[in-house]
Amino acid sequence: MALKESIRLQKYLASCGIASRRKAEELIATGKVTVDGRTVTEMGIKIDPSEQVISCFGKPVTQKEIFVYFLLNKPRGYITTVSDPQGRPVVTSLIKNCNARLFPVGRLDFDTEGALLLTNDGQLAQKIQHPSHQTNKTYEATLKGIPDRKKLALLEKGILLEGKITAPARIRILARKNRNCLAAITIHEGRKHQVKKMFSAINHPVLDLKRTHYGKLKLGTLATGKYRQLSQIDLKKIFL
Ligand code: URA
Repeated sequence: MALKESIRLQKYLASCGIASRRKAEELIATGKVTVDGRTVTEMGIKIDPSEQVISCFGKPVTQKEIFVYFLLNKPRGYITTVSDPQGRPVVTSLIKNCNARLFPVGRLDFDTEGALLLTNDGQLAQKIQHPSHQTNKTYEATLKGIPDRKKLALLEKGILLEGKITAPARIRILARKNRNCLAAITIHEGRKHQVKKMFSAINHPVLDLKRTHYGKLKLGTLATGKYRQLSQIDLKKIFL
């Protein structure tokens, strides 16, 4: 597992499968362990495996990374990064008791809520985001006004957005809300503010946006701010 914080040396050695924690203490006490080339015999020192080289019997000790996957129902008012220089709340802070170096897969705007995957698996993240996989993402958008079929057909076919035609989309009007409506839109591109820009282009701006699915993996009844760990079966649904 990748660790983002300092950890006690004996715990780190044990987590790398070198020995039990007790045996690891013995290895330290008997001078078999070095930190950045310096033999450490003192017990309980904390190390940062991402910054320091830990060796045992002269061989570097590394942790085998265990990949974890979470589906979060991102609340509005959270930024989709691992840190924010402006001090705004970041999505990774919502996942508790996880030492893995998580990052969000793709982005949701600060004011958008809904399905957000977080993982430490760079390869899977790349696969989801790579255009060749055309991973569908479905959003529910509250729109100002009610677009007619003709306008929706334009969006479905593709419109010119910042010099490039958007890929085909699927759109359904789910409900009417007074003079506005709730629409479901499925796209496989991930351009910045894409859904908002697409509906603005037909003069029906988005008032509220929520991502509900990655492929066939759905947010379901997950409450805002809550998350669940995903299984391999869940992960396969992303590509359906
Ligand atoms: N499209 C948008 O406009 N915003 C999002 O957050 C996601 C998709």
